[in-house]
Amino acid sequence: APRVFSGIQPTADSFHLGNYLGALRQWVSLQDTHETFYCVVDLHAITVEHDPELLRRRTRVSVAQLIAMGVDPDRATLFVQSHVPEHAELAWVLGCLTGFGEASRMTQFKDKSSKQGASGTSVGLFTYPVLQAADILLYTPEPGTAALRVPVGEDQRQHLELTRTLAQRFNHRFGETFVAPEAHIPEGAAKITDLQEPDAKMSKSASSPQGIIDVLEEPGPMRKKIMRAVTDTGSEVVYDEEKKAGVTNLLRIYSALDGTSVADLEAKYAESGYGQFKKDLAEVVLGTFTPIRERTTALLDDPAELDRILEKGAERAGAVAARTMEIVRDRVGFVGRGR
Ligand code: TYM
Repeated sequence: APRVFSGIQPTADSFHLGNYLGALRQWVSLQDTHETFYCVVDLHAITVEHDPELLRRRTRVSVAQLIAMGVDPDRATLFVQSHVPEHAELAWVLGCLTGFGEASRMTQFKDKSSKQGASGTSVGLFTYPVLQAADILLYTPEPGTAALRVPVGEDQRQHLELTRTLAQRFNHRFGETFVAPEAHIPEGAAKITDLQEPDAKMSKSASSPQGIIDVLEEPGPMRKKIMRAVTDTGSEVVYDEEKKAGVTNLLRIYSALDGTSVADLEAKYAESGYGQFKKDLAEVVLGTFTPIRERTTALLDDPAELDRILEKGAERAGAVAARTMEIVRDRVGFVGRGR
């Protein structure tokens, strides 16, 4: 079966609507047709300053949310990145194949480092995309046997391109080893924007709390945020990326969650204006996230069960990663241990 790998950072107390529509929903549906590997990337989470206890808690909350959304630990391999040390090891090898200039062109790095300033920017933040490439390529199928797909939002496209480049470069230098991965980016929901600044991406690090819909948010505040979402001049519910970025974002969210096409939504709300549209949207969002919030709470009540799930995930992921690394070490020219 074709393989899937994806990852998410445990850098907030809750995932948000952008994560859900851009990526996590696809994680769940791809389980039916693919051999799936899903990773909570705690190594990536320390590329900016962090609090250790917070990271530990958020890693567990992340795992619980993924299961609550429908990631099935019996079918998918669900694990924490730091449990499989091969991620860091392959990142070193790939880092030695990455040009300094090539890494300098990563737009996420440029954005984040310009906010942090030179002294606050770590080397880890610079090599972040190389670690991401290692994450993916460790789970390569044997070349020629199957595809490797990576469900992500639009903002990860450049990192995926770098991963493809590194896979091809490694193959060219050392022999056919990696399958070049394909980004699997959803049509209408690849970039969910900030409710308050509809030209900017909804983002854990950049958005204000009012701009983000958290998966684990309580119904009251969630309704309020949606009612207060920035809409545009006029009162017509119409899709227009340029002139009506706010309404357009809400239409995309509604359509993605509810399955009604944007055209049908425009027709449905042609007479009613923004108020009724937002009220109904709030119910659609709550209908999706309330059961997820309740299941997450229940899962967090049984930390021993979560640990068992992660142990099993680490074992399965570790076995695949170990096999890939053995091949990589050999191809690169390291002397085999005990030979
Ligand atoms: P992260 O943790 O920032 O986000 C997780 C996923 O959510 C998507 N996403 C969005 N999609 C649509 N609209 C938005 N506003 C929005 N915000 C976030 C992201 O595209 C992502 O798919 N570098 C990755 C984590 C990572 C990874 C990997 C991903 C590490 N290794 C290997 C895939 C494969 C990141 O920061 O995602």
